[in-house]
Amino acid sequence: MKGNQDSSWADKVVLITGGATGIGKGIAMEMYGKGAAVVIAGRNAETGQEAADSLGARAIYIQMDVRDTSSVNTTVNHIIRTFGRLDILVNNAGIPRSTGIETELEDQWDNVINTNLNGYARCVRAALPFLKESCGNILNIASLVGAIGMENSSSYVASKGGIIAFTKSLALDLAKYGIRVNAILPGWIMTENVSRMHPDRLKLVIDAHPLGRIGTPKDCGKAACYLCSEDASFITGISLAVDGGIALGYGAQIASAYQPTES
Ligand code: NAI
Repeated sequence: MKGNQDSSWADKVVLITGGATGIGKGIAMEMYGKGAAVVIAGRNAETGQEAADSLGARAIYIQMDVRDTSSVNTTVNHIIRTFGRLDILVNNAGIPRSTGIETELEDQWDNVINTNLNGYARCVRAALPFLKESCGNILNIASLVGAIGMENSSSYVASKGGIIAFTKSLALDLAKYGIRVNAILPGWIMTENVSRMHPDRLKLVIDAHPLGRIGTPKDCGKAACYLCSEDASFITGISLAVDGGIALGYGAQIASAYQPTES
């Protein structure tokens, strides 16, 4: 066994949607590093192929659009033809925050929900027969804002809140097959979109984290490996915040203004 490879991962086959960039790539790198075969599925053939090549011989790229049922089904069939099994589905492909309800057009709303929420359901439907065979895992990448809300992002927040609820419901429905279903709620993660922020605004964001830094795709990759591993065999239906404590902002900023009156 090489490096930090783990024998329990050696025969695992993982499908990561949107795995060519950002958080998905961080998860792909960590799971590949443990010894799994990794399938990166996404829209952009150039970055997808590049990402798979950068991992190594047991990684492949398949072009796929999560909005298209036949593209999703073809991808899963391709995986079964190539590897003969599927153990872990990581639903990660998503489009970023939208605008507020007053300005967002109906077709923009529909596209966010169709990609971020319906896309996850499409992948689950396609993968389910094979996850039943492997007693596998589903990991849904939601977002912290799906649990706590965020202004000017109504469709994005609705999609992410939907994923949190979907995760719980799936965990109940699929437990009888030995399939565990969990979610990760990333807070601020240093991906390309975040790195393009103005440095002053980025500093404000960093300062709001009790742990004093923004997260990395690797942080998400490590959490993903844990939730999909045997170490988490009694955990299903949870939403794990990977957020450096930023969700504790009420305690840090608001409640600290409270001064108990002296008796
Ligand atoms: P990203 O843009 O690097 O990754 C998204 C990936 O999904 C890209 O590779 C993109 O090509 C792919 N994708 C988009 N639409 C697709 C479609 N229709 N079919 C197939 N692939 C498609 O962004 P990031 O930040 O890595 O996001 C990954 C996930 O993490 C998303 O679900 C996002 O909402 C979530 N997230 C990210 C946070 C962050 O701070 N970066 C915070 C909270 C959640």
